[in-house]
Formats: sequence, C-alpha cells, structure tokens
Amino acid sequence: MDLSNRTVLIVGGTSGIGRELARRFAAAGSTVAVGGRSPKALSELAEEAFGTISIDVTDGASVATARDFALTRYPELDTVVTMSGVMLLEDLRDPAHFEAAATTIDTNLLGTIRVVDAFTPHLVRRGTGTFVTVTSGIAFLPFPPMPSYAASKAAVHAYSEALRAQLDGTGVGVVELVPPAVATAEQEKVNPHALPLNDFATEVMHLLSQDPTPHEILVKGVLVHRWAERDGTYDELVAQRSQALAMLPSHQG
Ligand SMILES: NC(=O)c1ccc[n+]([C@@H]2O[C@H](COP(=O)([O-])OP(=O)(O)OC[C@H]3O[C@@H](n4cnc5c(N)ncnc54)[C@H](OP(=O)(O)O)[C@@H]3O)[C@@H](O)[C@H]2O)c1
Repeated sequence: MDLSNRTVLIVGGTSGIGRELARRFAAAGSTVAVGGRSPKALSELAEEAFGTISIDVTDGASVATARDFALTRYPELDTVVTMSGVMLLEDLRDPAHFEAAATTIDTNLLGTIRVVDAFTPHLVRRGTGTFVTVTSGIAFLPFPPMPSYAASKAAVHAYSEALRAQLDGTGVGVVELVPPAVATAEQEKVNPHALPLNDFATEVMHLLSQDPTPHEILVKGVLVHRWAERDGTYDELVAQRSQALAMLPSHQG
C-alpha cells in the first residue's frame, strides 16, 4: 500500500498504538484523522494538526454522528482503522467479572462491527479503500487471565475473514493487524517483555508498504503466537501463559 497519499481515519487513535500509527501515516504524507472519547487527547492531537473526531464505539448514535462528520470533512476517506479496544483482566471464579466481559465484547467486537458498518457504504461506493481491523496474538494463543479479551479478538479475526470475502470484488480490502504485546501505557506496567512501541510501529509501516493489501500484518514478535497451533507448540505455550493466572485474586494464597 502506498502510505504517502491515503486519507486515513484511526478510530481508537487517541493513545497507544493508534496514536503512534497516526503519526507514522502523517509523517509518510497521508492525511490523518483520529477518533476516540478522550476530550483531552483529542485536543492535544488537534494541536498536532490531526483532524479529530469524538466517537464512542459502544454507542451506535455516536458512531453515526462521527461517520457523518468524517465523511463531510474527508470525502476522500479511503482507509478506516478500527483500533478501539479495552484489555481487561477477569477472574472467572468471581461472577462480578461479567461486567468486564460485557464491556470487552461491546467495545472490541461490536465496536468494530459498528464502525465497519458505518463506513462500508462509503468505501464500496468509492470502489476502492481499506479497512484495517485490529486483533492480537491473543486471538490465536489465549492468555488465560483475559478470557473475554481473547474471545473478542478471535471473533474479530473471524469477522475480518468473512468481511474480506464479502467485500471481494468491490475494491475494498481488509487488512488484519495482529499486534503482539506492545509497550503502550497499560502494557508497560504489566509486561516487561512488551515490544517497544516505536519498533512495532516501524515494522508495521514497513510491512504495510510491502504489499498492496496484505491480509494480515504480522510483525516478527507475533509469529510464535500466530502459528502456535500449526507449529505444535500451542498446548505448551498455553500452559506457560497460564502461570500468569497467579495475578488473579482467586488464584492467590
Ligand atoms: N498494546 C498491546 O500489547 C496490544 C496487543 C495486541 C492488541 N492490541 C490492540 O491494539 C489496540 C490498541 O491498544 P493500545 O495498547 O494502543 O491501547 P490504548 O492505549 O489503551 O488505546 C486504546 C484506544 O481505544 C480507544 N477506545 C477504548 N474504548 C473506546 C470506545 N468505547 N470508543 C472509542 N474508542 C475507544 C481509546 O480511546 P479513548 O479512551 O479516547 O476513547 C484508545 O484510543 C486495541 O484494540 C488492543 O486490543 C494491543
């Protein structure tokens, strides 16, 4: 994909990976708008000359308003990134986990679907464009302390594959970005092995520029997760990752 002349909307670009990719697309020459809920982050990004759009992906009316605003301001919009996501720990022996499960599915899965639905007619009408969905290595190799997160990302993977097949022939491609653990604010606290954000973003932009519409963006650090089942390492790696359950209250003492 030519990164120098896209018109990109990154929904969930107010922090972390989305914010860094917004900067990278802009540095490559593309026009970039960023969406999210945080007024503070949106006004900081406006000062950096990004277009900014207030959007809550759990609210259909908010998504529709944001879509109308985005398409009025950027009629040439050709790339929509569905980056919004929450990563929540859940202790399944405590029924109170359900609230986290509901938020996770509403944001990560239904939020992705709401945003894709909102922009599909526009991209199909254009006859060219790209959705970039965002999953995780955890979609392919569960991390047991985050069960609904893993389920939501496995679902977005499956949804992305179906979306790609249904849009085949329309000129609209679907790229699935599959990050491993990346050192954004939340991850930095819990995972000392997370990939530095700068290194991750550099590898992603390189991979994106290689292929007109890659089906999946897999940086080197995620290959072990993505292909664990094929490589016969799945059971051993899930057992290893289950050691992290010690961080949950019901597994302590
Ligand atoms: N960091 C990692 O290790 C890692 C690994 C694999 C996959 N991922 C995925 O990559 C994406 C970005 O993660 P990150 O690490 O960069 O996290 P982050 O810094 O917490 O960013 C999450 C983004 O999602 C937005 N968001 C959350 N709820 C939203 C809602 N209801 N409506 C609209 N936007 C919402 C946030 O914006 P507002 O708060 O402004 O709304 C923020 O821009 C997520 O989908 C995550 O699952 C991350």
